[in-house]
Amino acid sequence: MSFFALIPAAGSGSRLPGEQAKQYAMLAGRPMLWHAIRAVCVAPVETVFVVLAPDDRTFAARDWSAFGGKLEPLYCGGETRRDSVYNGLVAAMAAVDADDWMLVHDAARPCLPRADLERLLSECSGDRIGGILALPAADTVKRAAKDEAGTQRVAASEDRSQLWLAQTPQMFRAGLLAQALRQAKMPVTDESGAIEQMGLKPRLVAGSRENLKVTYAQDLAIAEAILRSRP
Ligand code: C5P
Repeated sequence: MSFFALIPAAGSGSRLPGEQAKQYAMLAGRPMLWHAIRAVCVAPVETVFVVLAPDDRTFAARDWSAFGGKLEPLYCGGETRRDSVYNGLVAAMAAVDADDWMLVHDAARPCLPRADLERLLSECSGDRIGGILALPAADTVKRAAKDEAGTQRVAASEDRSQLWLAQTPQMFRAGLLAQALRQAKMPVTDESGAIEQMGLKPRLVAGSRENLKVTYAQDLAIAEAILRSRP
């Protein structure tokens, strides 16, 4: 049984300003994707599969030499994140056994702390299903609904004590994950969502706020500050 990582990096990052896709935005002197790759390399992964858009021209023009022969770019990204992960998994299965662990990590989470990844590995490696990093909700969460005038209003307050915010990495056996993503009937925005649709309950492992998802322009400044604060 071996460990592999897969990083979906085929999104356009439309909520960030600028021409460049989000995964190539520069943070502490390197592309965001570089930091995400480096973070998962803390795990004993044999190969990091990076799923790129078929027309990606930027990846080949950047310097990935720090990762030696560990990286395998796959130009098979799809319309949605789920499509990108599924296409990447299908391509990766030539080199991966169904029982191997696959750690799926967003290119948009460049600040994953070493301790979080180590906790995920130690709590999930012996688990029958696998699991995800997540954060118990700290804020009070409201469900929204628009009124007749189109104004957003609070429709309900959710029970915060039972809510967690899903992060990545998410780790599952490669074969199970491919099957789950292939069969998923309802839309999914993470791997766990597909596994849950099979009636399985992935393990929740406490993550940290440092592992933020860079989505908006202001997140770039926070991610930059976190990366620069590290030795
Ligand atoms: O857009 P969002 O921030 O949710 O994307 C999460 C991750 O999924 C990013 O790393 C992004 O590059 C990737 N993605 C992808 N293919 C898509 C959409 C998103 O690989 N079609």
